[in-house]
Amino acid sequence: MAICTSISTLQQTLSQKRASGAQIGFVPTMGALHDGHGSLVTQALAQNDCVVVSIFVNPTQFNNAQDLEKYPRPFEQDVAFLNAIDPEIVIFAPEAADLYGGAVQAKSYRFGAIESAMEGKHRPGHFDGVGTVLNLLFRAVSPTRAYFGEKDFQQLQIVRKLVALERLPVEIIGCPIHRAENGLAMSSRNRRLTPQQLEAAPFIFKILKKTQDEFDSKSIPALVREAEAAFAANPMLDLEYFEIAATDNLQTAYRKHPSNTYRAFVAAFAGEVRLIDNMGLN
Ligand code: PAF
Repeated sequence: MAICTSISTLQQTLSQKRASGAQIGFVPTMGALHDGHGSLVTQALAQNDCVVVSIFVNPTQFNNAQDLEKYPRPFEQDVAFLNAIDPEIVIFAPEAADLYGGAVQAKSYRFGAIESAMEGKHRPGHFDGVGTVLNLLFRAVSPTRAYFGEKDFQQLQIVRKLVALERLPVEIIGCPIHRAENGLAMSSRNRRLTPQQLEAAPFIFKILKKTQDEFDSKSIPALVREAEAAFAANPMLDLEYFEIAATDNLQTAYRKHPSNTYRAFVAAFAGEVRLIDNMGLN
């Protein structure tokens, strides 16, 4: 399978396909691939002639040095994982200096109100880093379509804004959250959980599901209070936030409006590992 470690080798690899009019599907990742990534890749393969998967742990989107240092990087396993799905997949694993073309630093974006909610509030600078690296990756790959999981629902909305701001000719496809049988959302960070933490983590899904089940019968403040109380009583998880927000603008909701849809969002620590998840409520 083709593994391109620079923009120039990627361009060479893709040039013939592009010349013959191939549609290119792109799945950007930071590696440590799991079945959630697998489902994005499978969808990209079904909808395009050629699929590029990038594996790049982007330093500018980490606001915590330890999180960056401990981020899993099982490159050989990732290659084998993709090879088993389809050996025709093109892997793009650039060096930071090549991708950034000089200083590895984030650009400052104005994504509007969505960037200061939830992940934006708790991880300052995170979305500037995500926007910067995706702008560079999109320009290197020039995909027809790019695929993102809804586990990072806020990121998905930021990507849509980025594409509009940078006028990038790519279609952004959001894909459903891939969950383990016990409800735990698939995440590269799950690899860092101890067996005990792994057993405790599906509690996040349980509370989201309860919130969804009770959404019609309870007020938003009551649902948030109950979720916060449930996390406070769980010694294995340390809640950073539990929020219910309107789907369109991701602003905190306090009251239901009949024509709106809402989602619940969670960030919680299991030990040092930060987990996020979300669920549509109506
Ligand atoms: O979701 C991720 O894995 C990353 O934020 C992304 C989109 C690959 C950008 O580094």
